[in-house]
Amino acid sequence: MVKRAPGKVDMEKLVSLCKRRGFVFPSSEIYGGLASCWDYGPLGVEMKNNVKRAWWRKVVQERDDMVGLDAAILMHPQTWVASGHVESFADPLSDCKSCRQRWRTDDIKDGRCPACGGELTEPRMFNLMFKTFMGPVEDEASVVYLRPETAQGIFVNFQNVLNASRRKLPFGIAQIGKAFRNEITPGNFIFRTREFEQMEIEYFVKPGAEEEWFQHWLKERFQWYLDLGIQPENLRLRQHGPDELAHYARDCYDVEYLFPMGWMELEGIANRGDYDLRQHSSPPEADSRASGGSGKDLTVYDEESGQHILPYVIEPSAGVDRGLLAFLLDAYHEEEDKDEIRVVLRLHPALAPIKVAVLPLSRNEKLVPLAREIYAQLRRHWMVQYDDAQSIGRRYRRQDEIGTPYCVTIDFQSLEDKAVTIRDRDTMAQVRVPVAELVEELRGRIEGD
Ligand code: GAP
Repeated sequence: MVKRAPGKVDMEKLVSLCKRRGFVFPSSEIYGGLASCWDYGPLGVEMKNNVKRAWWRKVVQERDDMVGLDAAILMHPQTWVASGHVESFADPLSDCKSCRQRWRTDDIKDGRCPACGGELTEPRMFNLMFKTFMGPVEDEASVVYLRPETAQGIFVNFQNVLNASRRKLPFGIAQIGKAFRNEITPGNFIFRTREFEQMEIEYFVKPGAEEEWFQHWLKERFQWYLDLGIQPENLRLRQHGPDELAHYARDCYDVEYLFPMGWMELEGIANRGDYDLRQHSSPPEADSRASGGSGKDLTVYDEESGQHILPYVIEPSAGVDRGLLAFLLDAYHEEEDKDEIRVVLRLHPALAPIKVAVLPLSRNEKLVPLAREIYAQLRRHWMVQYDDAQSIGRRYRRQDEIGTPYCVTIDFQSLEDKAVTIRDRDTMAQVRVPVAELVEELRGRIEGD
């Protein structure tokens, strides 16, 4: 059995599997595609929903100090002035004077074009926010932005959530949604794209308690990836240096994964201090393009001290697409089996797009009614596939390649003993189980921790 070395999966192989099996397709492909845009296919959408569900379950459903939110992508443009994004959410950009290629200057070590070695222009700052216009008139007054992070939807709703849910500090607000950044150098498949999805928490604490909660979230979020099967040698935490910190951050760690292109950020966990609530509550300025906020009171009344306080914020911010890519890369294994290479995605059952495949041994008409009955029964609980094409060995391989943890085989003996075979993707072990106990047996395997 050959196991891959950590971080050594060929991205090309994964991209090709994703397209062939319906995880991820190039966007608008019949028109030649659109750079760095990707669409999730039938299996991709299932897996993406599973990643989001696993996150929501862990950080909202299983906690009593968290509530959810789903804010609009379009927000009042002043939001982005107050948050500092209009002023500071920019990357330095240089052009090569010889080959005209465009680069993020901070990615270049020795000041020369990485493509041809040519001289680069002086860097200029390029704001990453996508602009569009609201309503029929395309002028400065109608400019709105596609949100570059979901976080601001949480901050501007802070007082609404507080009033509606009667929370006391510490508590958090969680949100999943699309974000948009006009990245200068997108790439590496779904790792860096211009449209992506985030899973963000803003966790509000009393000033003074931020360090304790920062440590809590670093541990929680790191463990989440391990619990969902990421191999520990492929995961690490790395603290930002002072020159890397975003304009709002006092401290930040990245959860990094060993991607084929090296250690890269999966999720950032930042101590944002009271930066955002302070900015949004600051008075509106006469020239609102400067830095003015809403002027609204965003403090919390603290019964203990009898004072109104502006909470500090710990922010664990994860990318759905990046997480999904890491889970796929980590699960991808090629193994020698007899004279063949078996490709198997060892996905955690919670993430696998299809949980069970129902495989009648053949299309014999005697087998079909029982196989169909079992299929109908299992579909009420999970995403299940029915496959009766080609040999049973080929069908096992097809399911291995998409990460289906269990196959249920119905054979002629099943008609007599009312039992079927469960085949385990990882061990390839087979056990015989009475049909009457099948759902409970599978539930234990799929949903048990
Ligand atoms: N609210 C904080 C924030 O947005 P960030 O580090 O800029 O922090 C958080 O983004 C996460 O969002 C990243 O760790 C990454 O997983 C994901 N992300 C950011 N930009 C992305 C992009 N262009 N493509 C895909 N995912 C991205």
